[in-house]
Amino acid sequence: MSADRAETTGPYERVEIFDTTLRDGEQSPGISLNTQEKVEIASQLARLGVDVIEAGFPITSPGDFEAVQAISRTVSGPVVCGLARTQKGDIDAAWGAVKDAERPRIHTFISTSDIHIEHQLRTDRDDVRGQARAAVAHARELCEDVEFSPMDATRADVGFTAEVCGIAIAEGAGVINIPDTVGYTTPAEYTAYLTRLYELLPELADVRLSVHCHDDLGLAVANSFAGVLAGARQVECAVNGIGERAGNCSLEEIVMLLRTRRVDHGLDTGLETTEIARTSRMVSRFTGYVVQPNKAVVGRNAFAHESGIHQDGVLKERTTFEIMDARDVGLDSNQIVLGKHSGRHALKDALEQLGFVVEGNALNQAFKRFKELADKKKQVTSLDLEAIVSDEMREASQKYELAWFEVEAGTRREPAARVGVTTPAGEEVQGSSGGDGPVDAVFGAIQAAVDTRCELSRYLVSAVGEGDDALGEVTVMLRAHGRLASGQGVSTDIIEASAQAYVRAIANALDGAAVREAESVAADAASASPFPPGP
Ligand code: KIV
Ligand code: ZN
Repeated sequence: MSADRAETTGPYERVEIFDTTLRDGEQSPGISLNTQEKVEIASQLARLGVDVIEAGFPITSPGDFEAVQAISRTVSGPVVCGLARTQKGDIDAAWGAVKDAERPRIHTFISTSDIHIEHQLRTDRDDVRGQARAAVAHARELCEDVEFSPMDATRADVGFTAEVCGIAIAEGAGVINIPDTVGYTTPAEYTAYLTRLYELLPELADVRLSVHCHDDLGLAVANSFAGVLAGARQVECAVNGIGERAGNCSLEEIVMLLRTRRVDHGLDTGLETTEIARTSRMVSRFTGYVVQPNKAVVGRNAFAHESGIHQDGVLKERTTFEIMDARDVGLDSNQIVLGKHSGRHALKDALEQLGFVVEGNALNQAFKRFKELADKKKQVTSLDLEAIVSDEMREASQKYELAWFEVEAGTRREPAARVGVTTPAGEEVQGSSGGDGPVDAVFGAIQAAVDTRCELSRYLVSAVGEGDDALGEVTVMLRAHGRLASGQGVSTDIIEASAQAYVRAIANALDGAAVREAESVAADAASASPFPPGP
């Protein structure tokens, strides 16, 4: 464990939170975060107080390397960790990306299950032992803080896993993480596995044990909790539970489970839980992964009471039907309200309270958007401010922009749309199209303007806050150039928000395709091994 972190949180023993939103979470299909968005999320994770940020898998692409490096250089507080397979090149890349962090960590992994060893790695147990030894030894030459994971551990022979973890500890790994990679285990089985591991490998008690559970059977949080009760003092999780396939253990759920029941088990995290809702909204907005209304802790209905009996009870005494206080997770708290006459200073102050440092041109732009909004809405709330600042950030980092659109539609006329899109070269390209409705026509016109065929895979509209004058937020996920990508847009006009979201999704898809092409050209030229797919 790191010496500068307290082992306890008040009277409770501390469980460290290792956030993998930007690594395992980012491996979810259609998520395409750019470096600026990743830095923004990492800064918010630091405000939330997570102990470790797994910022990416640096060998996988130059873009991933650049983002991990940018986070290492700008975000202070948490440990910043880079993932690496056992190959020397992976470990060198991870170190290159994290070495400027205040507290860097290298996380290296190799599978210990026979099914992976035989079919994926196409090798044998002896080679796995050797690779684990060499990887941890090399990582430790570079970095003091090294984590080792035996991938697919829960489907592996516990004796062999103990042996490989023993090698990693002997070579200097300070954290041993036991992943339920395919979300297969159950709480009782995981407890038994970890208990047996402690018996077989007494040295495990000298390092930090970590758990990393996937949600394929809906047990990621339950399994992680079982792991903590069995002795783990680090939980790997992701905001909103995003991640490979069904996702990872949800950060907000495990954190609030530990907090809500801390008196019973004597364990807690060091998180500033009032930042949870804001972090969840930011991740949802940037990834395009919308949170379901009934999602525990952060869903829109997580604290809503529909039945008369419940409403009556809560009005008399909140704890009759609520086990948590919405304010403790940042819902309904610090609701800043600005009016039409609020000035630039009031806006800057409000943004700072929300954690956004916006200055210079960005502040002018945010102020312009705020004034436009204040002309249309009676009151501009913190939720609106968050939405427009995130939208501005996206606009600034995007290479294609919606310049204008026109659309005609109605029950007595065929929909027809025309659009102008500004390209990365600064030119305006135009397109027109009919469609099944006004949104479809605008989407067709955008495809014509940028000369790209797209297949729409998801289209979601939601309101920011409440009321007739609420801002509309649109998420589009589409496939173009063989790549799934998402984009978001915010406006009081749903068609405008849809058009912005569509242009941004295409821009992300084109960007991804261009990066992939550049990577494969570079890889061919260097005759080096191509960047690996994620674990
Ligand atoms: O699920 C998994 O096994 C992983 C490892 C890289 C820790 O993500
Ligand atoms: Zn994983």
